Amino acid sequence: MNTYLASILITGGQGQLAKALCHHPLAKQFRLIPCSHQQLDITNSRSIQTAFREYQPDIVVNAAAYTAVDRAEEEREQAACINHHGARQLALACNDKHIPLIHLSTNYIFDGRKTAAYTEEDAANPINYYGETKWLGEEAVRAECEQHIILRVASLFGEFGNNYLKTMLQLSRDRTELRIVADQISNPTYTGDIASAILNMATQTLHTWGTYHFANVPPCSWYDFTLAIIEEMHRHTHVKVEKVAAITTEDYPRPANRPLNAVLDSNKISADYQIELTDWQLALQSIIKPML
Ligand SMILES: NC(=O)c1ccc[n+]([C@@H]2O[C@H](COP(=O)([O-])OP(=O)(O)OC[C@H]3O[C@@H](n4cnc5c(N)ncnc54)[C@H](OP(=O)(O)O)[C@@H]3O)[C@@H](O)[C@H]2O)c1
Repeated sequence: MNTYLASILITGGQGQLAKALCHHPLAKQFRLIPCSHQQLDITNSRSIQTAFREYQPDIVVNAAAYTAVDRAEEEREQAACINHHGARQLALACNDKHIPLIHLSTNYIFDGRKTAAYTEEDAANPINYYGETKWLGEEAVRAECEQHIILRVASLFGEFGNNYLKTMLQLSRDRTELRIVADQISNPTYTGDIASAILNMATQTLHTWGTYHFANVPPCSWYDFTLAIIEEMHRHTHVKVEKVAAITTEDYPRPANRPLNAVLDSNKISADYQIELTDWQLALQSIIKPML
């Protein structure tokens, strides 16, 4: 008979972070229950209760979200329904059953005007609608669920789902020139490292509730990140792209505003939960070759 450390129900079970959780080596120590959108709709309290009754989780990870940052400017109702109302429904259900909730949030709740990295003490001031709905979701989780951890992450990349790395791998094979924004700084973060942080926290007794940042180091621009991706590709394959031009945010208008500085300071999680802060370049080195 298997003895697990805990049963962890994961909402948004088909998303990139949920898949990274399920594929992580530490996952074997747990009974992970990834629930797809179809199996568990976080905006529907009955759907949540049914899943809780069936799976009896010890911990819930909310990886479900509306994540289309630009589309959220148009699809406001849908984004708010999932990121705010859905987060609230889940928080209420977790609190009712005394189940700790690890809720994922984003660096896009900040306005980007600070010149240093953002800590958990800094004031939120979202400058796009996605960020606003994620901030409202955080506030709902704080208000409704006593045993919560809000984990803010940044610029996810990895093997699963759609993400910036996958887009760049494709474009570098198809085009000779790329134009990449060089004045937005954040911490590209490997989904496997976020999975590692979450599962490491779950191996400990969750002891300190509240808000935490978790991101890879060091901070960099999309331009720097892209150069590092292409350099790593070069080691293993032919790359079509010959030139990467650095452009500004103004040169590349998008429906949603982006904070220029979206860098997260992750020292608090490192101190409270002994989570190691790792370099995104190490992740690129280990994952790009198998993805080519
Ligand atoms: N991606 C990033 O760069 C980034 C950056 C910072 C923070 N975050 C945060 O990190 C977390 C995970 O993001 P991710 O990139 O893994 O997201 P993702 O790949 O877009 O996955 C989100 C999942 O949520 C599901 N979902 C949507 N509405 C739902 C609902 N009402 N009930 C249940 N499931 C629902 C989606 O399923 P369907 O597709 O079937 O609707 C999808 O599988 C999110 O909280 C996000 O805000 C992401």
